[in-house]
Amino acid sequence: MARAAHRRHGDEIAAPARPSSRQVDALAAKAKGCTRCPLYRNATQTVFGEGPTGATLMLVGEQPGDQEDRAGRPFVGPAGKLLDRALVAAGIDRLDVYVTNVVKHFKHERRGKRRLHKRPNREEIDICRWWLDLELQTVRPRLVIALGVTAASALAGRAIVLSRVRRKTMDFTGLKGMAIQHPSALLRIPDSEARHRAFDTFVADLQYAAASVS
Ligand code: URA
Repeated sequence: MARAAHRRHGDEIAAPARPSSRQVDALAAKAKGCTRCPLYRNATQTVFGEGPTGATLMLVGEQPGDQEDRAGRPFVGPAGKLLDRALVAAGIDRLDVYVTNVVKHFKHERRGKRRLHKRPNREEIDICRWWLDLELQTVRPRLVIALGVTAASALAGRAIVLSRVRRKTMDFTGLKGMAIQHPSALLRIPDSEARHRAFDTFVADLQYAAASVS
């Protein structure tokens, strides 16, 4: 895959607006008004996936965060910036990848002015699965990469322990799948050396996954 030519702001790489196909745009337009579960009530908007149909890779995260909720785009906040850096380091162009989440609304609780992420529950994940299945059927990626345990368990249909499935191929409802760390998990590592090592492992796992379908 071609190297990304993303814009750089100091250290950060701004995720570019990705051209989506008409089919994805049509799905996203339908999902805009989604009221299938109560999460829409406290969210700013639906954050649908983006990227080309026929993408070789689909990356699936957990749910949009605070910044994604405001921007209406997946993985544009701190975890997204880390993901962007990792994709560049792995030689993967984000423009070629379909990026989405298991749950399309930001679930959170308010603490003063802050909106703190809350993990979606089983029911919310199951209900939102409707949209993820449509994305999987529309994009038909050659490999689905689950980012973190929530996405991996939702896609595999069973509880996944990430360390046990590292670099193993799984069945994600008929599509080839792999699971890697969620970028937010890397951001939470307090020790900077350990965080850099985890980043290198994350990049190597991305490269391994991409090479398995190249
Ligand atoms: N975390 C996710 O799982 N998805 C996003 O889009 C942003 C942060």
